[in-house]
Amino acid sequence: MRILVLGAGAREHAIILALREENTPHEIFAAPGNAGIAHDAVVVALDANDPAAVTNYANDENIDLVVIGPEAPLVAGVADALRERGIPVFGPGKAAAQLEGSKSFAKRVMDAAGVPTGRAVNARTLDEVAAALDEFGAPFVVKADGLAAGKGVIVTDDRAAALAHAGQYLADAPVLVEEHLAGPEVSLFFLCDGDHVLPLSPAQDYKRLRDGDEGPNTGGMGAYSPLPWLLEHFGGEDAFVDAVTREIAEPVIHQLDAEGTPFIGLLYAGLILTEQGVKVIEFNARFGDPETQVVLPRLVDPLSELLLAAASGHLEDFPKPAFAEATAVTVVLASQGYPEKPITGRVLTGLDAASTVEGVHIAHAATGRTDEGLVATGGRVLNVVALGTTFAESTERAYEALAKIGLEGGQYRTDIAARVIED
Ligand code: AMP
Ligand code: GLY
Repeated sequence: MRILVLGAGAREHAIILALREENTPHEIFAAPGNAGIAHDAVVVALDANDPAAVTNYANDENIDLVVIGPEAPLVAGVADALRERGIPVFGPGKAAAQLEGSKSFAKRVMDAAGVPTGRAVNARTLDEVAAALDEFGAPFVVKADGLAAGKGVIVTDDRAAALAHAGQYLADAPVLVEEHLAGPEVSLFFLCDGDHVLPLSPAQDYKRLRDGDEGPNTGGMGAYSPLPWLLEHFGGEDAFVDAVTREIAEPVIHQLDAEGTPFIGLLYAGLILTEQGVKVIEFNARFGDPETQVVLPRLVDPLSELLLAAASGHLEDFPKPAFAEATAVTVVLASQGYPEKPITGRVLTGLDAASTVEGVHIAHAATGRTDEGLVATGGRVLNVVALGTTFAESTERAYEALAKIGLEGGQYRTDIAARVIED
């Protein structure tokens, strides 16, 4: 197949690496890509957020499948334009992508579909915010109602900080004040073709910048998959995944279909396992980053066939995708100053040495080539991904590889997957 992947991060690199792992070779194109992706795909200078440019390119180059990585092209209507031209695309149209783009849209759909989520109030003024904070009590949760790359959310015991956070966004749009949900978090992905869904294997993301879940929220600093502790909570991964498929993913997808906005692409359910059951904290309309980097290397079935089946409405012909037992861990290397003000342009060293560690590969998030060599071009720079037979092994491999990588001021968490390392 000739496959075009839109996006420039480690998630897109992970998708491309999974496509390359298949027995059937593909011709893979990436726009705009990054220096690491350029090694594994043909990088094309194309504005991934421009519906006409992407559609013309895909048409002229006889692309068989377009895979949209990030949210921005979805919200810009790139999938709609491709579908209008009859080009198979994995990614929802603008209307269905509001499931991610608008938290109040997501709440409404969940309500209509009877899907469990935290109570929330849409507040337009600081007085309304204050009233909602007092209604729900601490810890306080305030969310900007739009795309904020994981940074629009505050969870705090400090009422004044919650109010100040709301104040930053209120001038532009209402904010959501939400009931705090307590429990372990799970990211679960579903391939969707508009009316059928197929679940992937769950992962856990580390959203906070520093060890021990301290510091600000980020796009995600690391992840692991599978989740061994689902055994004691749910009797195992299958029981958990089946329950979430039935009670959350299918009702939401059927609701969107009934509303005339079918969801074709990746439904990302951000879940909290509360004492009252599994509840949704958020939906995203795309693969998670960095969770994809640990989920796809464990996928046994060919990714391209699943994505094409979803894009063309044939998922019902496929069984639930199979996953290897291997443990996968990824640790993000971020630039100094991330997430507030990342310092970019610094040289990266040691990647070749890091890749020689057994079971390790590197997914590039924000890298470029200059006269000085490979440099960091953004906040999250790269992901070290390590596979093993136990979490102790894959974690040790990941950190051994990271120790070989040089980036002045680079920061990473040292406790990724620590909670699941067997004694
Ligand atoms: P979101 O962008 O909605 O995924 O929120 C980012 C992070 O904030 C989540 O991964 C959670 O760790 C936390 N969070 C969001 N909403 C809640 C909530 N209602 N209760 C507890 N934690 C939350
Ligand atoms: N890892 C969180 C996200 O992709 O939104």
